[in-house]
Amino acid sequence: MVKICCIGAGYVGGPTMAVIALKCPAVEVVVVDISVSRINAWNSDQLPIYEPGLDDVVKQCRGKNLFFSTDVEKHVYEADIIFVSVNTPTKTRGLGAGKAADLTYWESAARMIADVSKSDKIVVEKSTVPVKTAEAIEKILTHNSKGINYQILSNPEFLAEGTAIADLFNPDRVLIGGRETPDGKKAVQALKDIYAQWVPEDRIITTNLWSAELSKLAANAFLAQRISSVNAISALCEATGANITEVAYSVGKDSRIGPKFLNASVGFGGSCFQKDILNLVYICECNGLPEVANYWKQVIKINDYQKSRFVNRVVSSMFNTVSGKKIAVLGFAFKKDTGDTRETPAIDVCKGLLGDKAAISIYDPQVTEDQIQRDLSLNKFDWDHPIHLQPMSPTAVKQVSVSWDAYEATKGAHAICILTEWDEFKELDYERIYDNMQKPAFLFDGRNVIDLEKLRAIGFIVYAIGKPLDPWLKDMPAVA
Ligand code: NAD
Ligand code: UDX
Repeated sequence: MVKICCIGAGYVGGPTMAVIALKCPAVEVVVVDISVSRINAWNSDQLPIYEPGLDDVVKQCRGKNLFFSTDVEKHVYEADIIFVSVNTPTKTRGLGAGKAADLTYWESAARMIADVSKSDKIVVEKSTVPVKTAEAIEKILTHNSKGINYQILSNPEFLAEGTAIADLFNPDRVLIGGRETPDGKKAVQALKDIYAQWVPEDRIITTNLWSAELSKLAANAFLAQRISSVNAISALCEATGANITEVAYSVGKDSRIGPKFLNASVGFGGSCFQKDILNLVYICECNGLPEVANYWKQVIKINDYQKSRFVNRVVSSMFNTVSGKKIAVLGFAFKKDTGDTRETPAIDVCKGLLGDKAAISIYDPQVTEDQIQRDLSLNKFDWDHPIHLQPMSPTAVKQVSVSWDAYEATKGAHAICILTEWDEFKELDYERIYDNMQKPAFLFDGRNVIDLEKLRAIGFIVYAIGKPLDPWLKDMPAVA
C-alpha cells in the first residue's frame, strides 16, 4: 500500500488529501499538523473549514484510508510520498518584507523530514512557493541525507475556496514538475499514477520544476489581473453611464478572452492573489526586471483603489460624512461559500468607514464575531512601506457590532454595504429592511448581486459597482 503523508491540514491540505483518499482507496493518506485544535476539528463532526461537499467526502474515508494526526514525525517517517502544504504567507519583516514569501514553515518542515527519514521519499511541494524553492529544499534534504534518495516534485494546487471539492473532482489540469533525470521521471510517474485514478491523462501536465513553480504564480497573477482590469473599467462605466455587466459580457464573448473572472467587485480578496502577486513582483525585482515587477504591482494598486473608491462613494453619497451613522455590512468572507476572511476586501472597507467614525453592524453567515474582531483589530500591512503592525484604536473596534441575522444588522441603519455575494442576500425581504431603516436609505452593492430596479422602486438610493449612477449620486462630489 502506498503511504501518503501531508504536512499541513489547512484549506488546501485537508480537502486535497480527502479527495485523494476517496479516489484512491488503495492508498493510505495521513494529514498531519502542528495545530492540535485543527487536527481535533478534522477528527470531529465540526470540520475546521466550511467547504461545500467536504463533510461528505471526509465522512466516507475518515478512519478507513484517511487519518488526521498531530504525530507529524511518525507519519513522515512511514510515508513514501510527503506532500508539504504549509502556509507560505508574505514576509512582514526583514529582507523582502511586504513582498517575499515567508518560507519559515516550509524550511522547518523540510528540516524535520531530513531528520526523521530513514527511507527514500518523494517530497511534493503543494504550497505555493517562489520559483526555485525546490532547489533550496533539495539542498536542505540532501545535506542531511544519510544516503536517502529524495525526489522533489512541484505539484501546485489550483482549487478555489468555496468550490474546492468540485475543483478537485474535476480539475482543469493537474500540474507536476520534476527533475528530468531517470529518478525524477520515476517520481513524476508515481504521482501521476495517483491522479490518473480519476483525472483524465490529457489533463495531467508534466513540466520541469521551475515551470511548475512559476506557472502557479503566473496563473494567479493572470486571474487577479482580469479582475483588476474589469474593476478599472467599472470606474469608467460609472463616470460615463456605461454598464459594467454589459461591457464585461460583450468583452467576454470574444472567444480569445472568454467570460470567466470578469465580475466587477469591491475588490478581490483571499489568501492567494495578493500574496502570490507580491511574491512575483519580488522575484522580478530580484532578477533585475523592474518593468515586469511594476506591471504586476499595478494589479494590486487597482485592487486597493477599488476598495477605497467604494468607501469614498459611500461617504460622499451620505452628505460627506458617516460619523455616528449605523452602516450595515452584509458579508465579511472574501467570497461566498467560505468562512475564510484572509485579505477580504471587507476588512479594508470596514476600516475605511470606521476611519470616518461610522458605527458598523456586520452580518456574515459563516464568519464568527471573534474572527471579525481579530481581523479589524490589526492595521493593514503597507507592502510599499513595511512597518510593524499596529493594533487599531480600541474606540474604533467598539464601533463594530456583529449580528447573526441580516434583518437585525440592518435595523435602524442609514446604509447597507453588500461586501460578499452570498446567495441569501438576493432573497432578503428588502421592503421589510427598508421599512426599518433611517431615510434616505442607501444600499451600496459591492458585488452586483441585487436587482437595482426593484430596490429603487422600494425607495432605496442604490449604488452598484460599474452601474449607471442614481441621479442622487450624480449630484454628489466626484469620487476618485
Ligand atoms: P492554511 O494556513 O490553511 O494551512 C496551513 C497549515 O500548515 C496550518 O494548519 C499550519 O498549522 C500547518 N503548518 C505550518 N507549519 C507546519 C509544520 N512545520 N508542520 C506541520 N504543520 C504545519 O494554508 P492553506 O490555505 O491551506 O495554504 C497552504 C498553501 O497552499 C499556501 O502556500 C497557499 O498559498 C497554497 N494555496 C492555497 C489555496 C487556498 O485556496 N487557500 C489554493 C491554492 C494554493
Ligand atoms: C484563487 C484561484 O482562483 C485558485 O485557482 C487558486 O488555487 C487560489 O486562489 P480563491 O482565492 O480561493 O482562489 O477564490 P477565487 O474564486 O479565485 O476568488 C478570489 C477573489 O476574487 C474573491 O474575493 C472573489 O470574490 C474575487 N473575484 C473573483 C472577483 O471579484 N471577480 C471575479 O470575477 C472573480
